Amino acid sequence: MVFTPVLSAHWDEPDSFTLAGYTRHRGYEALDTALGMEPDALIQLVKDSGLRGRGGAGFPTGMKWGFIPQGPEGQGAKPHYLVVNADESEPGTCKDVPFMLANPHALVEGVIIASYAIRASQAFIYVRGEVVHVIRRLQEAVQEAYAAGHLGTNIHGSGYDLDLVVHAGAGAYICGEETALLDSLEGYRGQPRLRPPFPATHGLYACPTVVNNVESIASVPAIVLGGADWFAGMGTEKSKGFTLYSLSGHVKRPGQYEAPLGITLRQLLELSGGMREGRTLKFWTPGGSSTPLLTAEHLDVPLDYEGVTAAGSMLGTKALQCFDDTTCVVRAVLRWTEFYAHESCGKCTPCREGTYWMVQILERLEAGQASEDDIDVLLDTCDNIFGRSFCALGDGATSPIVSGVQLFRDEFVQHLTSGGCPFDPVASTIFGGVNA
Ligand SMILES: Cc1cc2nc3c(=O)[nH]c(=O)nc-3n(C[C@H](O)[C@H](O)[C@H](O)COP(=O)(O)O)c2cc1C
Ligand code: SF4
Repeated sequence: MVFTPVLSAHWDEPDSFTLAGYTRHRGYEALDTALGMEPDALIQLVKDSGLRGRGGAGFPTGMKWGFIPQGPEGQGAKPHYLVVNADESEPGTCKDVPFMLANPHALVEGVIIASYAIRASQAFIYVRGEVVHVIRRLQEAVQEAYAAGHLGTNIHGSGYDLDLVVHAGAGAYICGEETALLDSLEGYRGQPRLRPPFPATHGLYACPTVVNNVESIASVPAIVLGGADWFAGMGTEKSKGFTLYSLSGHVKRPGQYEAPLGITLRQLLELSGGMREGRTLKFWTPGGSSTPLLTAEHLDVPLDYEGVTAAGSMLGTKALQCFDDTTCVVRAVLRWTEFYAHESCGKCTPCREGTYWMVQILERLEAGQASEDDIDVLLDTCDNIFGRSFCALGDGATSPIVSGVQLFRDEFVQHLTSGGCPFDPVASTIFGGVNA
């Protein structure tokens, strides 16, 4: 298998994150091309490329840009904003942080091109507050870009002006949900907004706003340079292009693996040396903890939006967390559920109360102190959250539980019959500790 990386092509160079390192590899050339085009032609180019949002839902990026009202009246007359979602807080998701550390200028160039396309003169990168090293690196890249005339007034002599602010969030998973992010950016407590109206018409400060993931925006300069056909020539019929797959867990060489959409976990495991010595794959998430679990049966599922959906899960953020046969699935599901209960913003009752109760039930199940009926109470609680919550955090919280019970009900029951966890606490290392 031979791949030609694009997003991660120069990550191994010592100065990949500097302006000098980026310009050595045609950095900011795409910006010249873009500024020579009409904004609408740029939107069409991104539509033609087939780029879909890399933040989880896979919404077509060009189409999202096309929703921004233009013209001298109504919402179109208000300022337009581009907001990059760099909150990255989903358990297992770990692509945007290494990307911004290694190649922040690709994101900055993508921001300028996207802002020009949607006719915005102000853009924001909303970064998760805990990653101080990333915030510093982005700030340095933005300063370098200003000094070189890529940002500010009359960019590259085109007459186009853009200001870019790097904004540090305060570290809440819900602030990755795009409307909660906008509230947080405005200075309010981050909680999701009722939709409609959508951010495209009433986003930041009730003005037309595009919210895109880091990887979505950082893919744009390469698309402008290579062309829509080049990008669409990679991937599968409806999931075009290249992307970053993040392998973590019990694999020999965890990390970022850039590949065309549609590669399988079997192929990615070959690239990463396979599961750790003497162990076999038990279950995995295709796209972070909010996506239903899959098993070794699904090793050959094409990792594109359609393939993973057909297998009963979601591609999500392509965060492939791999767990081997030493892992207690009840323990893993409990850990994820604790996360959702902690991060539930409390705005709606099904998620606020339901995630709390799910932790209580799972704790008793894990300790072997529940009855088999409790498994059904757990599923019933999920049923009352899924589709009845205000935002997708609630739905996501049910994914590990429902899929975990569907695939491993016997293991849940085994905890009850053996009066506790049957797994060896020394062999089982999950979530950073010995059976932590
Ligand atoms: C609870 C929750 C957390 C989210 N966190 C992120 C995140 O950290 N980064 C991200 O890009 N999208 C996140 N999303 C998805 C965003 O709401 C939004 O769909 C995305 O930023 C759109 O970008 P894209 O079209 O480029 O994928 C999250 C959604 C939910 C419900
Ligand atoms: S589903 Fe959870 S996170 Fe989303 S609004 Fe309701 S309480 Fe908040």
